[in-house]
Amino acid sequence: MSTQLPELDLLAHEARAALAAATDEGALEQFRLTFLSRGQGRIKLALRGLKDLPSEARPRAGASVNALHNEVEAAFEARIEALRQRTFEDRLAREQIDVTLPGRPRPRGRLHPVTRTIREITAVFQELGYRIAEGPEVEWDRYNFEMLHIPPDHPARDMWDTLWVEGDLPMLLRTHTSPNQVRLMLSQEPPVRVAVPGRCYRYEAVDATHEWMFHQVELLAVDEGITLADLKGTLEYFIKRMFGAERKVMLHHSYFPFVEPGVEMAMDCFACGGTGCSTCKGSGWIEILGAGMVHPDVLAGVGYDPARYTGFAAGMGVERIAQLRHGIDDMRRYYQNDLRFLEQF
Ligand code: DAH
Repeated sequence: MSTQLPELDLLAHEARAALAAATDEGALEQFRLTFLSRGQGRIKLALRGLKDLPSEARPRAGASVNALHNEVEAAFEARIEALRQRTFEDRLAREQIDVTLPGRPRPRGRLHPVTRTIREITAVFQELGYRIAEGPEVEWDRYNFEMLHIPPDHPARDMWDTLWVEGDLPMLLRTHTSPNQVRLMLSQEPPVRVAVPGRCYRYEAVDATHEWMFHQVELLAVDEGITLADLKGTLEYFIKRMFGAERKVMLHHSYFPFVEPGVEMAMDCFACGGTGCSTCKGSGWIEILGAGMVHPDVLAGVGYDPARYTGFAAGMGVERIAQLRHGIDDMRRYYQNDLRFLEQF
């Protein structure tokens, strides 16, 4: 009688070959079920053959089966571990991040130069205690003209080439932000301190210094005891904040129907310091805004007592201020949407 289990060598040979051939997780699991499973695995089944051996041969034969089981199990676990290691390394390689790769720049949006300039202008007046308000772009003749002391057929209407709204109503696209003076005074009692930015429209041939749509900021201060000195001091402070503390300003007389006296403010040219250059067209001075003491009739028109209250008003062109500050040669550039221009701001 044989003292060894028949075919144990063959089983060992087959198990080693099958393990060598199993290269993925599925094949390894199949291998485990076939050879190592506790119930039906072929190595366990081999133990059943022990009963056919003479009893003195059983311990050695049993030890051989156990040795084979241990060997195959260890080899199997080594393979599983190696496979895990490889999967992990594959993943590391796949998910590797190259921190030296240059980033993808995201384009940054920015504010239009006119918007920025409006914010800069209104910020200065906010610091001075003015509030910021807005009014409608489609306006009544009454507010744009009449209550500003410009009755129908008044020759001063020629100062503003007006775009009228079609139809029978006396409506127009506001030609300036001044109607907001009237609107604000009608809506509140003095004291008033307000700055009003907004779009204006004029029936205008477009060139380097004229657009049919542009922006103004209106300023209005009404209280007891306000004088021309307040007007000058306030606007001078503003000019210095916008164009440099060394700026000098000059007021000279001008005419606007809704103020008396009316003035225009000029500053010494920041480009040449006053000696004369192309920015100031040789004069050394740059006209920057219109202003004046609110006309008593305008005050009376909104129900303010002109014997008690006085005030000053001013209006300035935003595009012009931005043009001066940034050296923009042509007003048309603002609204042509040319990114090469806009991206400079
Ligand atoms: N509204 C005037 C214009 O558009 C500018 C102006 C002048 C506004 C004098 C004022 C002012 O408030 O007092 O031409």
